[in-house]
Amino acid sequence: MTRQLYAVGNWKMYKTSREATQYIEELAPLVENCRAHVYLAVPYTSIAPASHYAKDTQIVIGAQNMHDAREGAFTGEVASLMLKEAGAKFTLLGHSERRQQFRETDAAIHKKVLRALQDDIQPIVCVGETWQEREKGQAEEVLRNQIMACLGEIPKEEAEKILLAYEPVWAIGTGKTATPEIAQAMHAHCREILGELFGKRKANTISILYGGSVKPDNVAELIAEKDIDGVLVGGASLDPATFAKIAHHCEKGK
Ligand code: 13P
Repeated sequence: MTRQLYAVGNWKMYKTSREATQYIEELAPLVENCRAHVYLAVPYTSIAPASHYAKDTQIVIGAQNMHDAREGAFTGEVASLMLKEAGAKFTLLGHSERRQQFRETDAAIHKKVLRALQDDIQPIVCVGETWQEREKGQAEEVLRNQIMACLGEIPKEEAEKILLAYEPVWAIGTGKTATPEIAQAMHAHCREILGELFGKRKANTISILYGGSVKPDNVAELIAEKDIDGVLVGGASLDPATFAKIAHHCEKGK
C-alpha cells in the first residue's frame, strides 16, 4: 500500500507576515522537486500573504486551528470559510497545546473536524498521551479514546481526506523524541483504531504523521518505519533550510 508522504511544519506563534513571506521565498526553491507534500501551518495573520507567495510552488499553506461554527458571535475566533478564502487548504485540529492550554475537548475537536470536512479544509487531527499517562501504561487507551471521540461518526467516504498526527505530549519541544520502535507501535495502534472506524482497507490509505522533537538527524529512522507516513515539525520547521532537509528525508518509497 502506498500512502501519501507529508512534511508538515507547525510554526505555532512564530513569525510575522513579513517573516513568513521571506521564509516561503527561501523554502520554495529548496523543496521544488520534493516527492513529499510540503505543508506549513502558519499563524492566522500569515495565511493570506503566505498563500500568495506559495502560489505556483510545492508549498501548501494551512492554519493551526479554527472554530466549528460557520459564523457567529465568537469574539477572537476564526471560521473555516474565512481560512479557505485566505488560502488555507488544511488545518491542524486538537494540537496538545490547544487541548492543554485552551481546554479543547475531544467533543469540540470532533465538531471542528466535521466543519472542516464540510467546508473542504483538510483536517490534520492531533492525538497523543502525556508522560504520566505513558508511565501508568495508559498510552494506548488514551489514543483510542481520543481517536474514537474525534473521528467517530465521520462518513467513511470522508475518512481519506483526514490526516492523523501522533504527537506524544512528552516529546513536544523537549528534545526527547519517541524511539522509532515506540512511534511505530503507536502508529500501528492508531491504524488499527482507524480500521475499526472506517474499515481496514480505508485505514491503510490514511497517512499518519509523527510529531515531537523531529530534527534532520532523527527523521530518517522515524520515516523508515512501516506506519509512519510523514512528520509534524515544530521548532525545526522555523528555519527553511532545516525544514527542507526534513522534507527531503520524507520522500522514501514505501
Ligand atoms: P517540536 O517539533 O518543537 O517538538 O514540536 C512538535 C509539535 O508540536 C508540532 O505540532
